[in-house]
Amino acid sequence: MVGKEDVDKIVKVFKENSTINFADYSEKSFIRRLEKILIDENCTIDDIVSKIETDNIYLNFIKNTITVNTTELFRDSEMWLNLKIPFKNYIKHKSELQIWHAGVSTGEELYSMKMFLQMIGYSENLTLIGTDLNDKVIELAKAGVYKNNIIADYIQNFDLVNNTFNYLDAIKLTDFANFNKATNKIEIKPSFKKDTDFFVLDLLNAEYNFQENFDIIMCRNVLIYFNLELQNKILNKFHNLLKPKGLLILGTHESIMPPISNKFKKTDGFYEKK
Ligand SMILES: C[S@@+](CC[C@H](N)C(=O)[O-])C[C@H]1O[C@@H](n2cnc3c(N)ncnc32)[C@H](O)[C@@H]1O
Repeated sequence: MVGKEDVDKIVKVFKENSTINFADYSEKSFIRRLEKILIDENCTIDDIVSKIETDNIYLNFIKNTITVNTTELFRDSEMWLNLKIPFKNYIKHKSELQIWHAGVSTGEELYSMKMFLQMIGYSENLTLIGTDLNDKVIELAKAGVYKNNIIADYIQNFDLVNNTFNYLDAIKLTDFANFNKATNKIEIKPSFKKDTDFFVLDLLNAEYNFQENFDIIMCRNVLIYFNLELQNKILNKFHNLLKPKGLLILGTHESIMPPISNKFKKTDGFYEKK
């Protein structure tokens, strides 16, 4: 059993040996991840602590293992369906869109956004930035190569027979990805990766150095891992980084509390900067 004192030890060793501050992570999820590491690695908390102190590669491995990276193409497809009409209205008068996916994991969310925009008829200038704390998932996002069995995982979202997304209008998978029969993987086409950029960014770091502000920030299923204080800190930064009337899209089980909620207008499934 992992307890509060074990969490404190791990938080402390990360603080002392890196820029990573897990202090404000939600304890429940943090403990679950530590318990999994103890079983998988067959070790104790003290083993982890002493190895982190001397081995940077191990530190990175533990950091990446503590983060939960679950994602999929068109995750929560109902949400995408609900965004269709509001987004069509939003893009009507836009000649450029800067979009940031904060906590993008292996990239499916960003590629879903690009497909979605194509589907609703947006063909103007587009920049899609995906960031994450975990360098391994960023590499995977850049590669855009996904196991074919991932498709089975999101079979509800995807109609293999017709090669279209069930909940969305017809978009052919072959428009954006190739099937590699030899490796049994789907590969996002290089042409579809145009206008996308992925890099490591810790949302807990004081400064985010972006050149421009964003029309849309999507940060789904990330804030739930942080305590309320940290959530508010990050939401404040998102507010500052949005253009006037920019949109913030959170996960289905995430919401904004006062006082920061007063800075946004809640609309159809997303928040608009006031
Ligand atoms: C559950 S995934 C969500 C992926 C995607 N947004 C989605 O909803 O499908 C959460 C992601 O948040 C990232 N994350 C956790 N702490 C972070 C931090 N401090 N800075 C940036 N990303 C972080 C994790 O590495 C993980 O990839």
